[in-house]
Amino acid sequence: MKFFIDTANLKDIQEAVELGVLDGVTTNPSLMAKEGIKGTDAVMAHYKQICELVDGDVSAEVIATDYEGIIREGEALAELHPNIVVKVPMIRDGVKAIRYFTDKGIKTNCTLIFSAGQALLAAKAGATYVSPFVGRLDDIGADGMQLIQQIVDIFSNYGYPTQVLAASVRHIPHLIQCAELGADVVTCPLNVITGLLNHPLTDKGLATFLADHKKVNS
Ligand code: E4P
Repeated sequence: MKFFIDTANLKDIQEAVELGVLDGVTTNPSLMAKEGIKGTDAVMAHYKQICELVDGDVSAEVIATDYEGIIREGEALAELHPNIVVKVPMIRDGVKAIRYFTDKGIKTNCTLIFSAGQALLAAKAGATYVSPFVGRLDDIGADGMQLIQQIVDIFSNYGYPTQVLAASVRHIPHLIQCAELGADVVTCPLNVITGLLNHPLTDKGLATFLADHKKVNS
């Protein structure tokens, strides 16, 4: 399973890189805004910085919602760095644009997936990744994990190469359930990744080992 970090914060990305377990980055316009990145030049420069930090795919989202605009923005993003994956929303013109990018050899991440049908359509258009948002489904009382299961099963039935990128992963149980269900990738904030380090019995066991060592070595 690949671990992507879901942020535009360079410090968090660097920390995840240093842990040695990071496979890529996802961003979205809200995450860019949270870092105060505004204006096309600053946005492009920021994506380039992220790509230089990480040896892996970096999803950069288009803002346009019409076919020509998505193509124009996506091509400019793809030219920035070979790690860029063009993130396209699950809308009619987005699906058409994913087909165009696929035929041109440009990687895509179809975002805002909330149903198995949407995932199937994106896979048919050749998307590299589909991003089902598990947390946002849970927020409205639906079952995000059920969607992951459905998409994993459908892609496996037909051997679609599109990877299931579980997004809106908010906590450790989400991440573990995605791993159990066979999602190809999870994207989540840094604290979810580093949270995997923790177990009280590890802390307690280590404290005992060190104390016992000290008893006979001091
Ligand atoms: C996916 O690529 C999105 O950036 C993200 O996972 C959304 O997560 P949220 O629902 O916690 O905002």
